[in-house]
Amino acid sequence: MTFLPWSEDYKVNIRVIDNEHRALFDLVNALHLEISQGKGERVVGSTLSALIRHIEEHFPNEEKYMEQCGFPGLRHHVSEHERFAQTVRRFKQQFDDNPDRLNTDSLLNTLKNWITGHILKSDREMIPYLRGEK
Ligand SMILES: [Fe+2]
Ligand SMILES: [Fe+2]
Repeated sequence: MTFLPWSEDYKVNIRVIDNEHRALFDLVNALHLEISQGKGERVVGSTLSALIRHIEEHFPNEEKYMEQCGFPGLRHHVSEHERFAQTVRRFKQQFDDNPDRLNTDSLLNTLKNWITGHILKSDREMIPYLRGEK
């Protein structure tokens, strides 16, 4: 079973953003698979790095859309992004310090919970502004 299944519910209806979100799901699922298959440090470390690069690219892209449509929650949203990026970087730091001590369940559940909650609640809040309804 897929660890983090994509569904239409996550759509914000901007193709670029939806594609980036899907790619994020793919990376988390790849990480889950690699961890559950007991892949080595190099494989897991490189997926974790790819995940960090992806969010560092995705967050400013999304914030640009929010700025363009006058979304009033932008500042708060940026801080949510920053906090999460910091959390993921901390996991990566722990992994780099000692891969055996990384709590992989905690990592995977943190990713899953934040991503699903954030997209469904916070990202989707910009939809009416994008549509010009607000
Ligand atoms: Fe997003
Ligand atoms: Fe976001």
